[in-house]
Amino acid sequence: MMTKEQIQYFTENFKEIASINSEVLKKYGQDETEDLLFMPEIVLRPSTTQEVSDILKYCNAQLIPVTPSGARTGLSGGALPIKGGVALNFERMNKILSIDENNFQVTVEPGVITEVLQNEVREKGLFYPPDPASKGSCFIGGNIAENSGGPKAVKYGVTSNYVLNLEVVLPNGEVIWTGADSIKNATGYNLTQLIVGSEGTLAVVTKIVLRLIPHPTNDLLLFVPFTSAEKACEAVVSIMSSGITPSGLEFMERDAVAWTLDKFPEIQFEIEENAQAFLLIEVDGFNDDLLFQDIEKISEILSHFETGEILFADNQATKDKLWEIRRKISEAVKKHSIYKEEDTVVRRYEMPKLLKGVKEIGEKYGFKSVCYGHVGDGNLHVNIIKGNLTDEQWNNELPKAIREIFKLSVELGGTISGEHGIGLVQKQYMDIPFTETSLNIMREIKKIFDPNNILNPGKIVDL
Ligand code: LAC
Ligand code: ZN
Repeated sequence: MMTKEQIQYFTENFKEIASINSEVLKKYGQDETEDLLFMPEIVLRPSTTQEVSDILKYCNAQLIPVTPSGARTGLSGGALPIKGGVALNFERMNKILSIDENNFQVTVEPGVITEVLQNEVREKGLFYPPDPASKGSCFIGGNIAENSGGPKAVKYGVTSNYVLNLEVVLPNGEVIWTGADSIKNATGYNLTQLIVGSEGTLAVVTKIVLRLIPHPTNDLLLFVPFTSAEKACEAVVSIMSSGITPSGLEFMERDAVAWTLDKFPEIQFEIEENAQAFLLIEVDGFNDDLLFQDIEKISEILSHFETGEILFADNQATKDKLWEIRRKISEAVKKHSIYKEEDTVVRRYEMPKLLKGVKEIGEKYGFKSVCYGHVGDGNLHVNIIKGNLTDEQWNNELPKAIREIFKLSVELGGTISGEHGIGLVQKQYMDIPFTETSLNIMREIKKIFDPNNILNPGKIVDL
């Protein structure tokens, strides 16, 4: 608990950026992870690196927990202030500082909304590909904290592939740059990549230099119904083996799409009666003729599978609608039922085995799951639905089932999170992908950066 004097220190010295209003505390005590709520004791919304540094210096000296906070769209509880203290929010640090068209780079503050960044650089013909489902609201700082992925990762990679350099504030208030702005860098330990995905536990990111690429001018999209979910996953393997790299290769079980249409009736779309799963397949590039050749090749591969009628999205409105359905699944599942979302990832070709295994584990423990995800990356979001499970089953039996799912993911060459992070809710499973030796290395790294354990304490690993 913060003392009255500590709260007063902030309300007096940081008057303009501090809030202790209970509604505000509640708002910053939640993200998109289940229905979890952990209230901070004060919310601070700095607008400069200097302010961040001053706040951290004081908190470090006073041993006050500080949880970096963005748009709170996370799915593993990374931004939840589970030990109270300060929620350090970045919505005021939302400037695009410079776009360097010669070097294909952009420098931004952490509170820039990912889609805003994408649109700005697009005006210059440039592309920042990582696009999590929440791109319309999530912050780039949060994407860096969780190493976000999204549908484009299958062709373009994830957030870490675009981060060149970071300005960060250490818990003692010192400000450093982690690397250089160059494309190449073989200079010592890679501090930049250590910060990416560290979920605000090591340092606080205040400036970000990102690499960009030329924006593709054309894209084509297919929506393919399958009568069997496993066959849909097998089709993915065949498509990828053909040498084509789609810019999106998404898998959705029937319920994922049906619930989305049910919860968002403004989206007008019909799905076939006997379809059990769908693939959304996008190709992009700079030449329509070449893209049509890719689509022909993909259609030929699909003709060997039992599919329903393939929808070729021939106009922007249809493309937008199909992507909207895909992006809204997570929200729809949340509206539908109490659920837990797992972010399993395996070697791409093992995806059919993962899906089959998840369903078998579901039968064993008596739960229903709705699966969808970035199948081209082997990244399957497994939504476990509470349904008729009792609270006792949900709280005590389910973690055993989740352990089995995660063990299977690791056996299949993967791990327990592809893009949502460990945060709070997956922390208890870290012994599955890592030995105690590896976990101790992580603990030691944490201690070097944050000896007083003030930064997002209680996340990723317990000390
Ligand atoms: C998605 C989020 C949940 O893929 O990662 O929709
Ligand atoms: Zn996802």
